[in-house]
Formats: sequence, C-alpha cells, structure tokens
Amino acid sequence: MLASPGAFIAFEGGEGAGKSTQEQLLAEHLIAAGHEVVRTREPGGTPAAEAMRNIVLSPQYLGLDARSEALLFAAARGEHVARVIRPALDRGAVVVCDRYLDSSVAYQGYGRDLGAEKVRDLSLWATNNLLPDLTIVLDIDPLLGLTRITNPDRLEAEPIEYHVRVRAAFLAIAGADSERYLVLDATLPKGEIAAVIAGRVDRLLAPR
Ligand code: TYD
Repeated sequence: MLASPGAFIAFEGGEGAGKSTQEQLLAEHLIAAGHEVVRTREPGGTPAAEAMRNIVLSPQYLGLDARSEALLFAAARGEHVARVIRPALDRGAVVVCDRYLDSSVAYQGYGRDLGAEKVRDLSLWATNNLLPDLTIVLDIDPLLGLTRITNPDRLEAEPIEYHVRVRAAFLAIAGADSERYLVLDATLPKGEIAAVIAGRVDRLLAPR
C-alpha cells in the first residue's frame, strides 16, 4: 500500500458470517476512541460503483460471463478507492470496509477458477496497489452461513460447492500472512469476536 496517515481495515468472509454486526461494533469502538471512521462496502460506495453493484449482483443476469464479472468488481473497486477510500486515508481516517480485493480473489479467482494471481493483479491495477493494513476474516461453514440468507443475490445463489471453495480460499489467503490477517470463528459469541477485533485494531493503531 502507498503510505498514508489513515488505516484501512477490511472484513471478509462467506455469506451470513455476521460482518455488518462486527463492522458496526468496531466503528463504535473506534469513534469512542476519537477516530474519524469511514464505513463503506464493496461492491459499491459511490453512485457509479453502486450502479455496477446492481448489475453484478442482480439475479436478472444469471450466467454473466465470469471474466466480465471479475472486471465489473474490479471497476467498481477502482472507483471506490479513488473517490472514497484513498481520500479518507489521506486525511487520516480509519476506513472499515465490508469486503475488498480478497473477495475477488476468493469468489472470482478460486470460485470461478479464473486464477488467484490474475484476479489479484487486476484489482491491484484498478486501485493503484491499495491493500488493507488489516483484513479480518469471519470464518463460517457455508452450510450454516447460507441458512442465514433470505433473499439470495446472484452469487449467493451459487451451489454449495462454490461456497466451499470460497471459504477454503479465504483461509488459504489469510493463512499465508498472519501479520495482515486475523481469522475468527464466526460462530463465537459476538461480544467475544468484537473484543478480539478491537484488541487487534488497537495494536495496529497504537504506534500512529
Ligand atoms: P453483499 O450483499 O454485500 O453481501 P455480503 O453481506 O455477503 O457481503 O454482496 C456481495 C456479494 O458479492 C457477495 O456474494 C460476495 C460477492 N463479491 C464477489 O464475488 N467479488 C467481489 O470482489 C466482491 C467485493 C463481492
């Protein structure tokens, strides 16, 4: 990542892992400690990226070409970084983002078999090499996570084997770099998960 005064924290994980609850709890913790917090999500975060989100997640486009899907996620990400994330980091905010580049690596690279490295490079190009300082992976068995979904979008509607590949991908990515990743069992009580996340993020922000 290019040096900036803020901090970039991404949440990743399968469907129904409880990311939004944990993002909310972390944001409250950081605001109470006096940080400016920008909460945002992918795909989306700007009007143009939200328009791309509507295309890429709509069940109306079932069977969308896999490469086109990967390009749309990367395009939305480029726009989101340029207009929201990088400006926030430059003014010293803590950005808490629901999903980021590793979702593309897991869902498109592994899930669609497009190749992890290619998909990662595409997003690095789109974002001018912006990577999170810390990525929190909320790990859940897709058999359990998917039962928590009511109105499945185009990706959520994929068969269970797809979601099993996605889960394995997140664990493999995180397992390769314990400095920049924190993996947590999403079935633990939410207060317990929140406390571990807050402790890790406090350590990340401490020397700043
Ligand atoms: P969303 O409604 O934000 O779901 P969630 O609560 O699970 O985050 O939907 C985002 C969906 O898009 C989710 O199924 C994961 C998928 N996705 C990708 O396939 N690639 C990506 O790069 C991103 C950001 C998301």
